[in-house]
Amino acid sequence: MLRSHNCGELNISNINDSVVLCGWVQRSRDLGGMTFVDLRDRYGITQLAFNMDVNANLCGQARKLGREFVILVRGSVTERSNKNLKMPTGEIEIIVNEIEILNESKTPPFTIEENTDGGEELRMKYRYLDLRRSNVRKNLELRHKMGIETRIYMNSLNFIEIETPVLIKSTPEGARDFVVPSRINPGEFYALPQSPQTFKQLLMVAGYDRYFQIVKCFRDEDLRADRQPEFTQIDCEMAFVNQEDILSTFEGLAKHLFKTIKGIEVKEFPRMSYADAMKYYGNDKPDIRYEMKLVELTEIVKGKDFKVFDDAELVVAISASGCSEYTRKQIDELTDFVKRPQIGSTGLIYLRVNNDGTYKSSVDKFYSEEELKKWAIACNAQKGDLIFVMAGKTEKTQKAMSELRLEMGNRLNLRNPEVFAPLWVVDFPLFEWDEETNRFYAKHHPFTSPKIEDIPLLDSNPVEVRANAYDLVINGVEIGGGSIRIHKKELQNKMLRMLGFSEEDAQNQFGFLMNAFEFGAPPHGGIAFGFDRWCAIFGGSDSIRDYIAFPKNNSGRDVMIDSPSPIAYEQLKELSIKLDK
Ligand code: AMO
Repeated sequence: MLRSHNCGELNISNINDSVVLCGWVQRSRDLGGMTFVDLRDRYGITQLAFNMDVNANLCGQARKLGREFVILVRGSVTERSNKNLKMPTGEIEIIVNEIEILNESKTPPFTIEENTDGGEELRMKYRYLDLRRSNVRKNLELRHKMGIETRIYMNSLNFIEIETPVLIKSTPEGARDFVVPSRINPGEFYALPQSPQTFKQLLMVAGYDRYFQIVKCFRDEDLRADRQPEFTQIDCEMAFVNQEDILSTFEGLAKHLFKTIKGIEVKEFPRMSYADAMKYYGNDKPDIRYEMKLVELTEIVKGKDFKVFDDAELVVAISASGCSEYTRKQIDELTDFVKRPQIGSTGLIYLRVNNDGTYKSSVDKFYSEEELKKWAIACNAQKGDLIFVMAGKTEKTQKAMSELRLEMGNRLNLRNPEVFAPLWVVDFPLFEWDEETNRFYAKHHPFTSPKIEDIPLLDSNPVEVRANAYDLVINGVEIGGGSIRIHKKELQNKMLRMLGFSEEDAQNQFGFLMNAFEFGAPPHGGIAFGFDRWCAIFGGSDSIRDYIAFPKNNSGRDVMIDSPSPIAYEQLKELSIKLDK
């Protein structure tokens, strides 16, 4: 090794030790008689001291060191006169007697410190410099530790990690596939897996009754803070289990991670049905760190000639505690917020429950104080609260109100990232109906089993069929989702038929799975967690990008390597891809 120690480990117990350190020059301060250099590596920062009176030549060399130069120094550890107890190495410094420049550096385009002056795009272009910053490094260390602890837990329960292929077959369900042309099979394409779903089911058929994999998945979908085109799942599957077994096994994993990573003991996770999540939070991934539940007012408000309410399928309210004195401007801001196209609400009605016991609403023309009081009672609002009301089509209105609830949660500081509220959402519907294409889609995926007791409804009332599917939600983020699978060929065939596959299409797309079901497929089920999301939640961030070493930007580009990029005509030809030239 070139070095004897790293830059984070020397302390008062090393006084007088001769050491060799290597690292990057974070900064140097020339105080005339003394020059100090902060030397950084992955482990921390150590102060180097150069005394003009003792060695003017060396001090001169130190003054010439630029930011991010890579150097090796030899010297001895001494106690600092000016201690910095906030740093692990803050009680010592190195009296250097030799500097070797291992490599020079251009001036970096942004400061490599926790609070950098670099914008996101610039930092992405020079991601290798961004990765030197201690906060980004800590994120990757957290990710590493989570991976290790996941493997420890899974291994302790006899799960075996098995790799599944990355070049697979394109299927029409789910998000769009990324495809890869096959040179030796002209005109044919592989697809990158959106998840190893079918392979893990085949592993169950093969008898590997406890499988997991920390695995890359690829989805060509619109990007957001919590979505990347390539992301990582903790993908798991078990045979001979029911839903309860899966929930308890993976609640165990979550508790293990909470304990080992965050040092938190969490109680049993609450459970909520999908129907209740939608009814009370307008959202299938509710943030239950705070109440502010949705209250239906539809029946109470109708029949007073207020057309917006009279015509609505749903009238729903939330009550924001202590907000009755919100200014007109604040309310207008929130109205603009819900009217944004992403939310699409037509408007926002408010009711102030004033501290003096009076009521003031934006629809006083239609409702008497007595009637407004009924709204307040329904919402369990107290003096000083502000009630927001929205009306319209049920699902759209619930979703819009859910967004407003989250926004109010932010404004009222009810969403503390250091408070964790895990939740199982269960009993998802098996199907969702799509108005545009006029067909059913699988709410989870086509391999999810209906609840046995709901199977008779498959023919009579498919919308009402509940699935044996579940999601793990933490602080309003969907961390994972899974289901008990169909393991009988006939039911799988029926499911695919209901999703609009012809017999032939079903056989072409999923024949390999249904054929496998004819060779002793055990009952099985599983779950997959969004590893990047879990890291971000534990790190207290909304953006998974901060927890991925080399992420893509919002347009799916890697600006550092400049990808995607055109390929040569010759290359296209070799792949039998014809482009109009
Ligand atoms: P699902 O599609 O719900 O289930 O994905 C599982 C979890 O993966 C995370 N996730 C993402 N994270 C980052 N970027 C993305 N683009 C992205 N898409 C999904 C989410 C999600 O909860 N095969 C099934 C699992 C199963 O049934 O066992 C599946 O993939 O946190």
